[in-house]
Amino acid sequence: MEKYKSLLKRLEKTAKQYTNIAPENGQFLSILIGAIKAQNVLEVGTSNGYSTIWIAAALKETGGRLITLEFDPTRAAEAETHLQEAGLDRIVEVRVGNALDEIAKCDATFDLVFLDAEKNEYRRYLELVLPNIRSGGLIVADDTLTMRDEMPDYIEYVFNTPTLHSVDIPLDDGVILSYKTEV
Ligand SMILES: C[S@@+](CC[C@H](N)C(=O)[O-])C[C@H]1O[C@@H](n2cnc3c(N)ncnc32)[C@H](O)[C@@H]1O
Repeated sequence: MEKYKSLLKRLEKTAKQYTNIAPENGQFLSILIGAIKAQNVLEVGTSNGYSTIWIAAALKETGGRLITLEFDPTRAAEAETHLQEAGLDRIVEVRVGNALDEIAKCDATFDLVFLDAEKNEYRRYLELVLPNIRSGGLIVADDTLTMRDEMPDYIEYVFNTPTLHSVDIPLDDGVILSYKTEV
């Protein structure tokens, strides 16, 4: 991560404007990716690519790849520029479009999915991608403490679906980590 430190630090100056995750949440994603040796990751909500860099840097170590979805073309272009600057663009595919359409077009089997777009769409993102998450795969949803009232359907789903095992983690704005099993 040392290699990407100056770029990440620079992007942290505009974190509010681009609604980026906190550095500790980036570190959390990075640890998970390394621990499960993730090969395929999906990110929903790229913005200018701050979290994308954390994820992609971890995937560079595991030899994995990332698809990231963003419907704002200006933000997606900024993310591409930052990924090129970091030398991570070859392992990341930035897809411009509505995640509600784009997820269905993904045919990879994902080891980890990171949700950080519209809070009231989290449940629909997860329902769309769930068949493509491997058993033993992980889902990380951001802003689950500060914006919890915008995602009651997601909360209900991840804590009541028998194949999902979920825990609230009070990292910055809160994340819910879910683990998918077959039964
Ligand atoms: C919270 S920001 C993502 C921040 C980013 N993960 C980071 O930490 O650097 C949410 C982004 O999701 C995008 N977004 C919201 N709804 C979307 C959708 N349905 N499909 C694709 N992108 C969406 C917004 O344009 C915004 O850039």
